[in-house]
Amino acid sequence: MDLKGLIRDIPDFPKPGIVFRDITTLLSNADGLRYTIDTLMEKCQAANLSPDYIVGMESRGFLFGVPLAYQLNAGFIPVRKPGKLPAAVHQVEYELEYGTDSLEIHQDALENHHSVLIVDDLMATGGTAKATADLLEKIGCNVLGFAFIIELKGLQGRKKLPNLPIITLVEY
Ligand code: PRP
Ligand code: ADE
Repeated sequence: MDLKGLIRDIPDFPKPGIVFRDITTLLSNADGLRYTIDTLMEKCQAANLSPDYIVGMESRGFLFGVPLAYQLNAGFIPVRKPGKLPAAVHQVEYELEYGTDSLEIHQDALENHHSVLIVDDLMATGGTAKATADLLEKIGCNVLGFAFIIELKGLQGRKKLPNLPIITLVEY
């Protein structure tokens, strides 16, 4: 399956110089969506990743994290932008390819004996994934690895992340 052919490139969004890799065109393609989730699942199984929970980051991490959690028979825990989660949260600051923000997770969403796979649509600088790993470190749970549909290799996001398995489907 030509996943790259289903991902749309939008130049100069959201800022001049950024090529935005738009996954809405992949999501809307039934065969592409099925192939994406099935392949993520197969790669997790091949790497012996059987997490108790998938942790997915707002908002595009939700789109792939929930169906992958369903396929892996895992629960799903959202990591959200500030002020969205209703109960007590842990919070971390992080940097984007195009700005800064912070992320939150419910303090009681996970316990330290739980195993977790971190899932997002895309790794750029790796700041979002690193911030999520930092949030999970506060809880003390066992991060098994990371899974992304897209990796922007030039930004070397992997260097920010701990030495754990990283599953990706498409590289730019
Ligand atoms: C995008 C993307 C990743 C993150 C990757 O999310 O979905 O979460 O940026 O960038 P990084 O590796 O440099 O941290 P964004 O913050 O744009 O939010 P959205 O999913 O709500 O659009
Ligand atoms: N998030 C960070 N960088 C991005 C890019 N180039 N395309 C889509 N989402 C992104």
